[in-house]
Amino acid sequence: MSTVATKTDLAYQQCIMPHCGETYDVGEVRTSCDKCGSLLDIVYQWDSLPVPKKLREFEAKWMRRNEPLCRSGVWRFHELLPFADPEKVVTIGEGQTPLMASEGVGSFVGMKPGQLFLEYEGMNPSGSFKDNGMTAAFTHAHTIGAKRAACASTGNTSASLALYCCVSKLMQAVIFIGSGKISYGKLSQALDYGALTIQIAGDFDDAMQRVREISSRLGIYLVNSVNPFRLEGQKTIMFRVLESLNWEVPDWIVVPGGNLGNSSSFAKAFHELKELGLVDRIPRLAIINAKGADTLYELVENRGLRWNQGKPNSEVMDTYYAELDAAHLRADTIASAIEINRPVNLFKCLRGLECMDGVVREVTDQQILDAKAQVGMSGLGCEPASAASVAGAKMLREEGIIDPSERVVCILTGHQLKDPTATVAYHTSDQKEFDRVLGSRGVSRAAFANRAVQVENDLDAIVRSIQLNS
Ligand code: F0G
Repeated sequence: MSTVATKTDLAYQQCIMPHCGETYDVGEVRTSCDKCGSLLDIVYQWDSLPVPKKLREFEAKWMRRNEPLCRSGVWRFHELLPFADPEKVVTIGEGQTPLMASEGVGSFVGMKPGQLFLEYEGMNPSGSFKDNGMTAAFTHAHTIGAKRAACASTGNTSASLALYCCVSKLMQAVIFIGSGKISYGKLSQALDYGALTIQIAGDFDDAMQRVREISSRLGIYLVNSVNPFRLEGQKTIMFRVLESLNWEVPDWIVVPGGNLGNSSSFAKAFHELKELGLVDRIPRLAIINAKGADTLYELVENRGLRWNQGKPNSEVMDTYYAELDAAHLRADTIASAIEINRPVNLFKCLRGLECMDGVVREVTDQQILDAKAQVGMSGLGCEPASAASVAGAKMLREEGIIDPSERVVCILTGHQLKDPTATVAYHTSDQKEFDRVLGSRGVSRAAFANRAVQVENDLDAIVRSIQLNS
């Protein structure tokens, strides 16, 4: 295996704010800069590291799929996230995810045939993209000898952490969730995998604040996406997209926005690839919020907040958060995975938007569920939050910002079975169930519902019903 950048001169942590730029050893555990409180990046001295001259060189690893580090869709790109000692890597075969062209979803979005792709991250071991980042953060935690790891979660991060702890037996998982704000599919994973599950009276934003306090008080390793190592793993989603497109750069990456870790990591991936001369251009980024949790949209598109080359006007954010508090406004969307009002990676994401010439949109729960039904019909299926990417691509197509002949990749972040309640309610023939689960979210119709046919328990009646409906 290649040289590893465990020394400060080859890889280090650095404050993202250009006016600060404070650096820290990769062996330190931190989620913010001591000097100015901002987020951190992992930075590499590429000149002294063995980086392939062409992305295509990674294909050689396919031949060595019997080696765990080559089988992993994260660690086969180890040279592009070289902070970890290969001996310490904890992998459970994450990142073996397909990119599929979808004619059905493409036509729903309004694209020319062959131009719409779905990156299906639901195929990960715990059923969401989180495993890409978890293997990286978990590896770092293991490297520094952590015995407990914690996160706040809307469900997927916790399922992922619980799984890595359970399989590796290296750490205990301590997870924080809000009350009633987690789908049963995700909660059942954490419980099954044996995580210590703390459900607090409050929502994700409250749980996030508490887990930060608890981690620092009890010295528990924090794996939320404020952890810069998490984002190193998530960069590989972009490497695999390129790999599936025969190393050609698409025109658009469209991703749901919650805590904004994924979008931030995608921008870092492309920034580094460009810096290394491994790609000749950077695709545009579209981040899609749910309307009931639209902080990024509000701040960027309505209030003009920008990274501004490292000088964002944080007063715009402070004023908005004060307004939310004064109005007692809480995030509320059927896409529970992205039901977040205070995204922890906001400033990193602003930098990413600048780097990828990005746009932000918000979509309603109705648009999310209709898009989700289309994804389901395409044969992949996803949870509601993931479908925000498809709904957002359709909106940008209708606005003329995405051209029908451009190449668009929507990231399907989580598996269909993560949240069957929303799916069944959408398709249900029981109006009361529809209204109970969806009506209160402003969903008034199910344009693509596949309703169960009610029929009495009688052979002839069943035959008649099949003939009538087929
Ligand atoms: N899609 C799914 C399925 C998610 O679970 C999340 C985040 C996102 C999108 C948003 O990604 O935070 O990087 O912008 N889920 C987190 C969790 C918050 O706790 O599982 P992001």
